[in-house]
Amino acid sequence: MTLNTTGQSAPPRYIAVATVDTLPDGGMLRVMLESHALVLARRGNAIYAFQGMCPHEKADLSQGRIEEGRLVCPRHLASFALDDGAVSAGWRNVAALKLYPARITGDAIEVDANAVNRNPPGGNRQVWDLSAR
Ligand code: FES
Repeated sequence: MTLNTTGQSAPPRYIAVATVDTLPDGGMLRVMLESHALVLARRGNAIYAFQGMCPHEKADLSQGRIEEGRLVCPRHLASFALDDGAVSAGWRNVAALKLYPARITGDAIEVDANAVNRNPPGGNRQVWDLSAR
């Protein structure tokens, strides 16, 4: 955790990364925030912001889907709970997804950039692009 000079963690710093109309209910969207790749997911009026790459073998999670409250990876079909990022059963040694504070303000989707920078999703490492398949 990054602490400021008073020993306190930095307060939230929400930055707009998309507009609500670009993320339909049940959809996902890849966005960048200060060079970090994230994936947004929407369930009703709830917005979730996760690391953009699967912790198993780096698939681009925005190419996956949402099923029954879980984000399903497009590459090997591990799934992650929207509420806390927990990985599905049977995936030993695969970490939970990093989940960041997100909110809707007006028509903007905003993510806490300080939370992302405190616990980066993985920088600019290569991701698997499955869109050409
Ligand atoms: S890369 Fe996501 S489950 Fe393997």
